[in-house]
Amino acid sequence: MSRQPENWRAPMHNVLVTGGSRGIGLAIGRRLVGAGYNVIAAARRESDDLKAAISESGGRLHFRACDLAVIDAIPAFAKLVRDEFGPIYGLVNNAGLGTEGLLATMHNSEIEALVQLNVLSPIILTKYVARQMMADGAGRIINISSIIATTGYNGLSVYGATKAAATGFTRSLAREVGKLGITVNAIAPGFIDTELTNNLSEDGRKRIAGRSALRRLPETDDVARMVEYLLGEGGRNITGTVFTVDAGNTA
Ligand SMILES: NC(=O)c1ccc[n+]([C@@H]2O[C@H](COP(=O)([O-])OP(=O)(O)OC[C@H]3O[C@@H](n4cnc5c(N)ncnc54)[C@H](OP(=O)(O)O)[C@@H]3O)[C@@H](O)[C@H]2O)c1
Repeated sequence: MSRQPENWRAPMHNVLVTGGSRGIGLAIGRRLVGAGYNVIAAARRESDDLKAAISESGGRLHFRACDLAVIDAIPAFAKLVRDEFGPIYGLVNNAGLGTEGLLATMHNSEIEALVQLNVLSPIILTKYVARQMMADGAGRIINISSIIATTGYNGLSVYGATKAAATGFTRSLAREVGKLGITVNAIAPGFIDTELTNNLSEDGRKRIAGRSALRRLPETDDVARMVEYLLGEGGRNITGTVFTVDAGNTA
């Protein structure tokens, strides 16, 4: 049976991507612009790579500065985006810190910063954006977790806790907002080369790739493709689940 395609790629379908200035977030922004979305990339600073992507985007990629660790600023930021761009169709909670450290010696301030940016901030931002989506009767929310949420990794206990929070949040929120036409999913990437992971040595990278079924590392655009899928027609009946993008590291 053929189905009339829904208007998923309308030019003004807005997607807010946090941490959109580099790494995985920038790859998501680039891909979504290519797919016809209007993307608002939020981060503290506009990177040179983002500037270049904006100038090539034909007016579909935008930067709005926001320090998402400042929780009290989040409601006004959500309103600013809505007032300026109109309804937000997609929210990608991607901004995150990857601070490593043995729990016993980690500063409390580092622990707090991780929980603040990786857990509290996306929950509060989602609260305000989901309210708008509820009024609009549609929306797609995607939370970027990590395979560390389930595998564990020496020196990443706090980070792992924050990424497990993202999947727990995803599942229950999907139950809560599904009846309003909103989907909520998580993506769990494996190790990807970005600034967040630049502490890992070349040997470490090779070891991770060698342990993966495909003998390589996933790339930022692999995550971006999954985001595109979840925002599109293919994602209409997918909610409350976690997609692993790790080149078979956990297979
Ligand atoms: N790379 C990996 O191997 C990997 C694997 C699994 C999951 N992940 C997850 O994927 C997401 C993106 O990671 P990535 O590797 O692309 O990291 P990244 O290259 O370090 O990029 C982080 C992004 O978050 C933004 N950000 C950081 N602090 C912020 C703040 N206070 N307010 C607003 N934006 C802030 C950064 O911009 P500014 O610094 O300018 O604010 C940047 O755009 C994270 O949630 C990470 O946990 C990454």
